[in-house]
Amino acid sequence: KRVAILISGGGSNMLSLVDSMVGDHPARPCLVLSNDVEAGGLKKAADRGIPTAAVDHRPFKGDRAAFEEELLKPLEEAQPDIVCLAGFMRVLTGDFVSRFQGRMLNIHPSLLPKYKGLNTHARAIEAGDAEHGCSVHEVTAALDDGPILGQARVNIDTGDTPDALAARVLVWEHKLYPVVLRRYASGDRTPVLLP
Ligand code: GRF
Repeated sequence: KRVAILISGGGSNMLSLVDSMVGDHPARPCLVLSNDVEAGGLKKAADRGIPTAAVDHRPFKGDRAAFEEELLKPLEEAQPDIVCLAGFMRVLTGDFVSRFQGRMLNIHPSLLPKYKGLNTHARAIEAGDAEHGCSVHEVTAALDDGPILGQARVNIDTGDTPDALAARVLVWEHKLYPVVLRRYASGDRTPVLLP
């Protein structure tokens, strides 16, 4: 299976996915694509010999469709079987998503369906939740929605700051996403629950 990974920044989730796709793993990375030409993850991918591409979203301003038309070019050229959004910070239109329906995954730093959108760690602390975590889901037109393929839970400690909590959740993102991808690439949709 060919896996394309979309990033916006450092790409730590992309790296954990790339580093997991070795040996008898049924998938291999075929492209790392970013909406930011400066994304640190692009060099990390290139250093691992993975084809990369970047389409700066800013010249397109609010014209999402025009941006996605450009984004689709390297993506379709790479012929991915699966597309993984990994720290990708642009909302994709229903049209774009529909091209990859049933084969696009995303990782979101909350226990979905709680806390869709941004600032999830601060919101969980603010709400006084006892636990938080991350979710991998199939991408559908609705933001941070779609069937849950895996979750990892962490406790919220008293005095936790959003940054401290985010750092603990990120460690579990790096564990969860590769396990979900391997299961997904082998055709198994049973949700992964960690720890
Ligand atoms: C992190 O905040 C993570 O929770 C979310 O995207 C952000 C950047 O991730 N998934 P990455 O290091 O670029 O993978």
